[in-house]
Amino acid sequence: MRDMLDDVLVSPSILSADIGRLDDELASISTADLIHIDVMDGHFVPPVTFGPNVVEAAKAATSVPLDVHVMIDNPDERVQDYLDAGADLLTFHVEAATHAHRIVSRIHASGARAGISLNPGTPVSSLSALIEDVDLVLVMSVDPGYGGQAFIPSSTAKLRELVRLCRDHGVRPTVEVDGGISPSNAAEACRAGATALVAGSAVFGAPDRPAAIAAIREAGRAGIVREA
Ligand code: DX5
Ligand code: ZN
Repeated sequence: MRDMLDDVLVSPSILSADIGRLDDELASISTADLIHIDVMDGHFVPPVTFGPNVVEAAKAATSVPLDVHVMIDNPDERVQDYLDAGADLLTFHVEAATHAHRIVSRIHASGARAGISLNPGTPVSSLSALIEDVDLVLVMSVDPGYGGQAFIPSSTAKLRELVRLCRDHGVRPTVEVDGGISPSNAAEACRAGATALVAGSAVFGAPDRPAAIAAIREAGRAGIVREA
């Protein structure tokens, strides 16, 4: 995986893909930096989506690194299955974890990068004891569970607060934002501190997916440049 801090990364979410045509759908987004796989268990969030078998199938079908986002209860007992299936980056929710440091260690022991995610209602301060140990923080900019929801505007203030927390701890994890991202708000998200952008409907709903990925990446870069 290339250095995740080099540039704005775009991670299309296959939640919005036609999963019956997984290979073709993955081929259509081969210019992405990461492939975002939303795992939902019907408990932590209402829907049920993908199990480890889908991660395994994606791993066999693409060389783009897999960005697996588990929206599940009890990640303590479940993350190993997704690591074994081929997750390159595994992000779990701070709200669901019992022993978060142990989960991070397990992810690292498998050779993957570890991410921690926050729901919109969870304060940034809940990460202070973890921030030095993770490779990525995923800020949910919608309540998780569904694609196609509107970006919650207060997410930008939250991104800025997260950047301050990272600065205070002297660390620079990848800051990923997930929910309602499109070319029209990618600059705003990156100006606030995001360096990785998840986009489901804005990529899979576009007639030209490589163009949509490029548009999101360029808009994100423009946000970073304007800040400098
Ligand atoms: C929501 C998921 C997101 C979702 C994003 O619970 O975590 O990754 O697929 O979809 P869009 O980009 O359509 O908001
Ligand atoms: Zn996600």
